[in-house]
Amino acid sequence: MKLPSSSATNLHKEGLRHFLKTQDFTKKDLTDILELMAMLKQARSDNAIPQLFKGQSVAMIFEQPSTRTRVSFETAATLLGGHALFLSPKDIHLGAKESLEDTGRVLSRMVDVIMARVDEHSTVAGLAEHASVPVINGLCDWLHPTQIMADLFSMMEHLPQGKSLGDLTVAFVGDATNVASSLMFACTKFGMTFKHICPERFKAPQKWIDIALENCESSGGKLVITDNTDQVAGCDVIVADSFYWFGQEDEKDIRLSTFIPEYVVTEDLMEKAGPDAMFMHCLPANDQRECTREVMESSRSIIFDEAENRLTAQMALLVYLTYHHNKVPSDETVMAHKTKIEGFLNNL
Ligand code: CP
Repeated sequence: MKLPSSSATNLHKEGLRHFLKTQDFTKKDLTDILELMAMLKQARSDNAIPQLFKGQSVAMIFEQPSTRTRVSFETAATLLGGHALFLSPKDIHLGAKESLEDTGRVLSRMVDVIMARVDEHSTVAGLAEHASVPVINGLCDWLHPTQIMADLFSMMEHLPQGKSLGDLTVAFVGDATNVASSLMFACTKFGMTFKHICPERFKAPQKWIDIALENCESSGGKLVITDNTDQVAGCDVIVADSFYWFGQEDEKDIRLSTFIPEYVVTEDLMEKAGPDAMFMHCLPANDQRECTREVMESSRSIIFDEAENRLTAQMALLVYLTYHHNKVPSDETVMAHKTKIEGFLNNL
């Protein structure tokens, strides 16, 4: 009996890349992913998606609830010919009966990608340290990088006349959330002007500001940190997000009283931004809290394009991170295995 090597699967150690944060990728890498998104969105629109994830699986670990991230990854894997497994903390041993190291190593022997939405960045980073397949950060306490790929792409789809991505001025109005940090890093990497408009008490930590300023140095971008909502004037994009998230429930009252009403994105605030300013929100939104329903439903709002582009982003990420390691086998190779196995079975 001839046995294959210790793992029958294609381990991706060589050239393995994880998608934990956009800072790990150059502007050229991120632009390549955006280009792939455009091609895959067109293929989806033509109902002709190439099966570039055929026979592969993505394990989806969720420590927190999700609508968009879960549905978009599961749908993306299926549309590309693969499969997704939903794993909640109730279903697996992660961090309780089994270490991150062992979980990462075991999943790597069975699936081709691990996607994890986690309470703490160290969990997704720990999985990546030990996994031999790509690990994707599906949101952590610090970052939400897959959201940001959808956001950049949505901005590209709605660019003001004559402007490119690097010409945009983006204002994030509200708390220093994981979306705020990820947008701050990505926008400054692309040379945009990024304004974080937030009360002093909840402003972004210096560590984020340092990263964004370093990006600006090489990209020509600009970072503005202010508590003055008048700074929305002239911005191309206004972004809102929740004023508190899981784990911040204790601060709910102080947060709401600090942010509301001044930092709520209203029609008046959008007017102040200018006639062509777009509105974005990663969703879910608490309408009448961080933004009004009128703004969400207005012609300036691109929130549902943004949500749909979560699927566009996940398709591109699954393909980008696995294509060079897991080539779809030729029909001849599959036929050779089939002939051999059926020959064996027929002789039993
Ligand atoms: N924006 C976002 O991550 O949505 P979900 O929490 O529904 O995944």
